[in-house]
Amino acid sequence: MNPPQQPRTAPSQGTGRLVDGFGRVHTDLRVSVTDRCNLRCSYCMPVDAAFRPREELLAYEEIARVVRVAAGLGVRAVRITGGEPLLRSGLDALVRLLVAVPGVGDVALTTNGLLLAEQAERLRRAGLHRLNVSLDSLRADVFETLARRRGLDRVLAGLVAAKAAGFGAIRINAVSIRGLTEEEIVPLAEFCRREAFHLRFIEFMPLDAEAAWADDRVLSGREVRAILERHVGPLVPLPAGDRGQPAVDFAWADGGGRVGFIDPVTAPFCDRCDRLRLTADGQVRNCLFSTTEWDVRPVLRGDADEAAVDAGIAALLRACVGAKRAAHGIGSTGFERPARAMFQIGG
Ligand code: 5AD
Ligand code: SF4
Repeated sequence: MNPPQQPRTAPSQGTGRLVDGFGRVHTDLRVSVTDRCNLRCSYCMPVDAAFRPREELLAYEEIARVVRVAAGLGVRAVRITGGEPLLRSGLDALVRLLVAVPGVGDVALTTNGLLLAEQAERLRRAGLHRLNVSLDSLRADVFETLARRRGLDRVLAGLVAAKAAGFGAIRINAVSIRGLTEEEIVPLAEFCRREAFHLRFIEFMPLDAEAAWADDRVLSGREVRAILERHVGPLVPLPAGDRGQPAVDFAWADGGGRVGFIDPVTAPFCDRCDRLRLTADGQVRNCLFSTTEWDVRPVLRGDADEAAVDAGIAALLRACVGAKRAAHGIGSTGFERPARAMFQIGG
């Protein structure tokens, strides 16, 4: 169940953790490093996307600074996203900065995998802890329909390289869209089981750039599970781990594989949300579906001394968390799509 719409508590003041008006403690920061991508997945970006000019993007040192302040306020996990983060040059340098931030114990990366074959080893050496690779289909033609570019072979090569580089517990994210991905479910599950990848199906959210999202395009996690169970037999629910983790995980009946479901549309997990986002152009957001953002660039780029800049960043993070709404409200009458699409926010 999601919390009531009115805050129950005053947002936290002063130093200490990032607690919102509903008591949710924020410990997870998603950092987008670019809005560019080498694919054009229809659920995320338009074919003819326009990108932010380079100078509007935060530099790695600026990102690290925000992360240091956030860590001082209790953020423990950082995920690097995009766009496609591996398009940003020398990303391993950012990984090195982030793994060195005191308090941050988990630095992960979400990638489409196209450039992973070249970069997996370097990222691992830089200290990256975990990898999520987006992959919706194992058939080249379906991959191309969904991503509107070719690339399946490169993703598969990237996965091989990631394993060889020593990444364990690699996750595969697959978006489920009615009429498009039903046939991909079983092959993806069998592939992930064989390769010991942890597969997660994600419901299609209204964050595409072309506004093609509609209720009836959402292939629910429950439906995906039913399709899977018809082929592989009953899945066994696994105990929920970390409370902030939105996925509900299952094991195959013989214990030889795991599959999870992230159901933001049919089973919203807003009441447990512990996430904040920083876009590539320096906007702090308290929700994927925020319609308000807090621009950290003037704070970072002003002429205040170091302590004042850090205090400014902390104040901005608090203001952002303090203004967080109870729930995204997809499906309710007041729901408003954010002006940004997924590639401009970061997954
Ligand atoms: N709905 C659900 N998931 C999406 N992603 C991108 N756009 C959407 C959307 N509209 C996923 C990508 C990737 C992660 C960053 O978010 O597949 O795995
Ligand atoms: Fe690129 Fe990922 Fe968006 Fe696909 S979902 S267009 S791979 S950023």
